[in-house]
Amino acid sequence: MSEDMRELKIEAARAALGQVTDGMRLGIGTGSTAEEFVRLLAERVENGFSVIGVPTSERTARLCLELGVPLTTLDDTPALDLTIDGADEIGPGLSLVKGGGGALLREKIVAAASARMIVIADKSKMVETLGQFPLPIEVNAFGLRATVLAIEGVARELGLKGPLAIREKAGESFVTDGGHLIVDASFGRIPDPRALANALNAIPGVVEHGLFLDLADTAYIAGDGGVRAVGA
Ligand code: A5P
Repeated sequence: MSEDMRELKIEAARAALGQVTDGMRLGIGTGSTAEEFVRLLAERVENGFSVIGVPTSERTARLCLELGVPLTTLDDTPALDLTIDGADEIGPGLSLVKGGGGALLREKIVAAASARMIVIADKSKMVETLGQFPLPIEVNAFGLRATVLAIEGVARELGLKGPLAIREKAGESFVTDGGHLIVDASFGRIPDPRALANALNAIPGVVEHGLFLDLADTAYIAGDGGVRAVGA
């Protein structure tokens, strides 16, 4: 990642930090942009700011623990004030593609348990139509081939152009924090995200998918001219 790109992520994260008030119960996202937010939040905590966070991945949990950001679980704190997270794509109405880091299931559970969700990103994530970034779909390993066939059946009708790829890491299947696999679906364009979301939700082997619809309230998008707030 270039220094400039990192600077944009930090700027977006700083803008979101401005929305965090003392005593908040926070959902804390996953990915390089969310990690910049954790670093800034940790500085505030060190200076006496009081928040408690629910991390959306083991990776984020480790960083928070390392930097001294107090954590809780969604079981102990089931209603959150605000979730701050990155995204792989931000489309019309703040529809999102997420899951590039493989954390989409916990990210969606945490966002849904939050009164508000703020997305932080550099300007490269803004798109007119979702789908250029392959859509991550979290699936149960049981019956994988049948699930992939079922996904293919609905996805072809809803714009799938490229392959469905089982995600790998270091030559092995990538396994999520929840013990599931990820299928990355190359659409190119997703003309009707809602229809696709409903169709994927109806497949039993699909645990969750990376289309986040009606979850984000605001996005802070950092570009050359500063940070722009975009509403849903
Ligand atoms: C993690 O599973 C994703 O949803 C991330 O939020 C997304 O990939 C954004 O990551 P970056 O901030 O690293 O681009």
